[in-house]
Amino acid sequence: MRPLIAGNWKMHGRLADVQGFAQAVRAAARHTDLLICPPFTLIDRFATALAGSGIAVGGQDCHPAPEGAFTGDVSAPMLAEAGASYVILGHSERRYCHGETNARVAGKAEAAMFAGLTPIVCIGETEAQRDAGEAEHVVRQQLMHSLPEGFSGIIAYEPVWAIGTGRTPTEADVAAMHAAIRAVLAEKLGEPGKALKILYGGSVKPGNAASLLALPEVDGALVGGASLKAEDLLAIAAAAPRG
Ligand code: PGA
Repeated sequence: MRPLIAGNWKMHGRLADVQGFAQAVRAAARHTDLLICPPFTLIDRFATALAGSGIAVGGQDCHPAPEGAFTGDVSAPMLAEAGASYVILGHSERRYCHGETNARVAGKAEAAMFAGLTPIVCIGETEAQRDAGEAEHVVRQQLMHSLPEGFSGIIAYEPVWAIGTGRTPTEADVAAMHAAIRAVLAEKLGEPGKALKILYGGSVKPGNAASLLALPEVDGALVGGASLKAEDLLAIAAAAPRG
């Protein structure tokens, strides 16, 4: 599988950052797919700046409805119109800061697919859940309930305690969790579940990317902090194995 390296800019990035970043990533030779998910305000600008480069642009959330009286929300067709082809859904910062449930995430994923976007559904346990030995159970429940019928998209395994902390699970723990995720995908979705990409996310940096990306069933990375610097994002992409 060709690895995907996805940058999640979260609530970072201003207009002045777009051209320089786009130029730097466009110019670099890559053997991975690259995706930039900036804030809503920069999607259109990035889509224009990256046109023809093969580098995709994505959103960080969408509403389950195509339109309506939902102040502050953005719909999947709106993201597509702005130039997005992917959307991150159910990120832990959405699940915990905005109270998003698995059912809500499934509704968003369905809307994204309907709009022609590739949903990237995030799952992952908290530190307390891992310490209690519940990590695989929590992730299984999230997968069973956050994916709509006929889900076609990407899964990002992001242990909540590894996000923005500089801490990562051991390689053995990442490999075990990705194998468990693959088994649940096959169980829930049948044959198509075996072909979906599973990304690892949480404190991926140039220094640890090669070892994480070489693990079985790790088909790429969802990168937060390190994706804000083109140089670091490209170093992570360069560390991915040739698929
Ligand atoms: P991080 O964030 O790389 O800064 O840990 C990852 C994410 O939240 O997607």
